[in-house]
Amino acid sequence: MILVTGGAGYIGSHCVIALLESGYDVVIFDSMEIGHRETAETLKNLDCKGRVVDVMEGDLMNIDDIDRVFETHRVDAVVHFAAYSQVAESMRDPSKYWNNNVVGTMHLLDSMRSHGVNSIVFSSTAATYGEPEYIPIDEKHPQNPINPYGSSKLVIEQMMDDYDKSYGLRSVRLRYFNVAGADHLNRVGEWHVPETHLIPNILKSTFGGEGDFKMFGDDYPTRDGTCVRDYVNVEDLADAHVLALKYLENGGTTDFFNLGTNDGSTVKEVFDECERITGQRIPLKVEGRRPGDPASLVADNRKAKGILGWNPRRTLADSISTAYAWEKKRRE
Ligand SMILES: NC(=O)c1ccc[n+]([C@@H]2O[C@H](COP(=O)([O-])OP(=O)(O)OC[C@H]3O[C@@H](n4cnc5c(N)ncnc54)[C@H](O)[C@@H]3O)[C@@H](O)[C@H]2O)c1
Repeated sequence: MILVTGGAGYIGSHCVIALLESGYDVVIFDSMEIGHRETAETLKNLDCKGRVVDVMEGDLMNIDDIDRVFETHRVDAVVHFAAYSQVAESMRDPSKYWNNNVVGTMHLLDSMRSHGVNSIVFSSTAATYGEPEYIPIDEKHPQNPINPYGSSKLVIEQMMDDYDKSYGLRSVRLRYFNVAGADHLNRVGEWHVPETHLIPNILKSTFGGEGDFKMFGDDYPTRDGTCVRDYVNVEDLADAHVLALKYLENGGTTDFFNLGTNDGSTVKEVFDECERITGQRIPLKVEGRRPGDPASLVADNRKAKGILGWNPRRTLADSISTAYAWEKKRRE
């Protein structure tokens, strides 16, 4: 059985489906602070190859909560999504991020150790690289995060190295670029409050009463002046987690991989694609740059392809159309 922390959240819920489809039973551990009980219910009631989904509500800040999961379930490995992940909030309130992300993960790793569980797949982020020194960013790029969110994830990566060296706890750290899209069967999708991600924010403005979509900065040194980001589809991303688990099951050593597409889209290109797919003119307002937004972030994903055998195949259009279908369903 696989323990998925944060399994009621956006990426975790898609990963739960990918795990079920690959023949794993799953126990979700989530505080439901950001994740949704409705999502957990949907996953629990999925009829997927006869596999089991159990849900345990609890907080990683409370080590007894996570100990209870290992005491009541035969966990073989962990996929760890539970964290806070809003960059701007982390700059206003770093303590919140150092506590929940770093201390919460330390509790998880200590609980794994005391229950003899030795493999973990961890959600890291491109934010650990900071301002890019070159593009595309490979795994050898220096890690110099420029906000507490990125720092908290980098410190966890370092903690995982120490726990491997001293306790034999092996980890795969997956550094995501911009995750987008929703389940192609519209069972789960992105549902953040507040929403800070580009595609759901553009799509939001297609619904009445949501106001204009705000584009931050159109004077960057890029092909059309707007920021370039690497949008990786959430179902492709979920597949990478299954491959990372299998890699560890087969005796793979601790390692880290970028998850992106090797290709970037500008904010304007994403906006135009949203208008094309929804068939609507989306109200737009161009504002000034936000501090701390690099002009371009694009992954070099060759390592994940070569070692994990990962093959992201869904397009930006797939991500936008599934996200739109989900947004309509969520609002009904
Ligand atoms: N969404 C992205 O584009 C992106 C990019 C890079 C990295 N990540 C990382 O991926 C992971 C998942 O991201 P997401 O977008 O699905 O986030 P999310 O907020 O939708 O999901 C996180 C889940 O963790 C739970 N959680 C948080 N703190 C907890 C705690 N102390 N105890 C128990 N549960 C707790 C929340 O309730 C939520 O359900 C995060 O670690 C995030 O940093 C996301």
